[in-house]
Amino acid sequence: MTRLSLSIASPSTTAADSLVLGVYQGEDGPAAADPEFDAAVQAMALAGAAGKPGTVTTIPAAGLVSAERIIGVGLGRPPAEGDTAEQSAAHRERVRQAAGAASRSAAGREKVVSTLSRIDLGAAAEGHLLGAYVFDTYKAAGPPPVDQLVLSVPSADKNAKAELLRAEITVEAVAFARSLVNSAPNDLPPAVFADRAAAAAREAGLTVQVLDEKALAKGGYGGIIGVGSGSSRPPRLVRVSYRPAGAKASVALVGKGITFDSGGLSIKPAAKMDQMTSDMAGAAAVVATAIAAAKLHLPIAVTATAALAENLPSGTAYRPGDVLRHYGGAKGKGTGKTVHVLNTDAEGRLVLADAIVRACEDNPDYLLETATLTGAQVVALGNRTMGVMGSPALRDRVAELAREVGEGGWAMPLPEHLREGLDSPLADLANIAGEPGGGMLVAGHYLAAFVPDGLDWAHLDVAGPAFNSGKPYGYTGSGGTGVPVRTLLAVLQDIATP
Ligand code: BES
Ligand code: MN
Ligand code: ZN
Repeated sequence: MTRLSLSIASPSTTAADSLVLGVYQGEDGPAAADPEFDAAVQAMALAGAAGKPGTVTTIPAAGLVSAERIIGVGLGRPPAEGDTAEQSAAHRERVRQAAGAASRSAAGREKVVSTLSRIDLGAAAEGHLLGAYVFDTYKAAGPPPVDQLVLSVPSADKNAKAELLRAEITVEAVAFARSLVNSAPNDLPPAVFADRAAAAAREAGLTVQVLDEKALAKGGYGGIIGVGSGSSRPPRLVRVSYRPAGAKASVALVGKGITFDSGGLSIKPAAKMDQMTSDMAGAAAVVATAIAAAKLHLPIAVTATAALAENLPSGTAYRPGDVLRHYGGAKGKGTGKTVHVLNTDAEGRLVLADAIVRACEDNPDYLLETATLTGAQVVALGNRTMGVMGSPALRDRVAELAREVGEGGWAMPLPEHLREGLDSPLADLANIAGEPGGGMLVAGHYLAAFVPDGLDWAHLDVAGPAFNSGKPYGYTGSGGTGVPVRTLLAVLQDIATP
């Protein structure tokens, strides 16, 4: 892993493999963030740098600075006085993305000095570390990440050190979630996910509870048992808790953990089915977030509940037509809502309903639930904007914070009339609606049926954003992105310090 450090030494005279410079798109061409680097930016302009976001221009330093080469990264429009909060967040995100791109282009280098930290330390630290993430469990796809990243700062005071630590803990959580998503589904059945989550949580001082298939059956977790019944590798429910003394509030995190989603007997088409290795991204994110909350010593209690199952077709699989009974909570076994399964590929909501009921037995003040739940989310919002549903105030706050941290989010409604689509003549609910349209919202309605009245809750559908099936860009590599870890952490921080 890349080592980060702060330095108050002059970046121009620090010996290094590379010096990272931000290049703005000024009114009269590319511009340096700091006049000290005007000459370097003019040299990069000759090499084609225009400051466009997403661009990287590398030139030999040729005596301009002590480093061997200069990596220029585009930052787009410079900040201006009177920028709105949204414009400032967008600028911060451009710094984060530029830092990530710089880290990726500096792979294999020993020592890199960055000046992006002089613009925004937190964003630069996060972006550089996120961009330096590599997953090499199965093969080393390229050179190793940059070894030593020196962040140039005007003064290495307490605030700077705290900001650096915050970025490190945040990225550690994102990397943990990414690595779980990037693990192949044959290597990550529910029991292995549970072991890895439990080990990481225990190491950070959290308490851990794992329900195996026997405990799940005994407890009446019909959704999780049903979805997991087609696989020889049985389901799990993992709960990790951080409960600091004097906690100001309690938050329940719930995540969908389908370690592979074939669709079950309602089997998916072959094309891109391999991407359903990412269907446990919600579970990975909530476990990672709870661990990070502990490392950040947030003054709130956080419990993550991960519902883990593998959705496969087989002679023991659940069928379209089956009626399952969800977990009933405090009222006891046999009291949960019943569901008529019309499509075994709408399995996420089935495992989540059990987990939501269990999580809400703890009487949390807030419920944040996240899942790679619907293809409809991708159709509606694409691959870089999560859909956020739930109680209006929290929903809007979560969507806003998602945008603020650069993960992208938009508030979505739960129109009353779509709820009726889930009515079933046979059971309390059907797991899909009869009419097409609004699939992301229908799924939201299904979950809403299990949330206690009056509880502040949000549902984050990250079907698109959790996984990058394309090329790397900015601080995002191919594969697991770690979304929505940074959003969840921002929400926790917001709850902890309103
Ligand atoms: N895991 C999928 C959703 C998904 C799709 C995630 C694309 C990531 C990328 C989910 O379990 C699913 O199959 N949903 C169905 C629901 C439908 C049967 C109502 C879908 O969206 O097609
Ligand atoms: Mn599915
Ligand atoms: Zn799924």
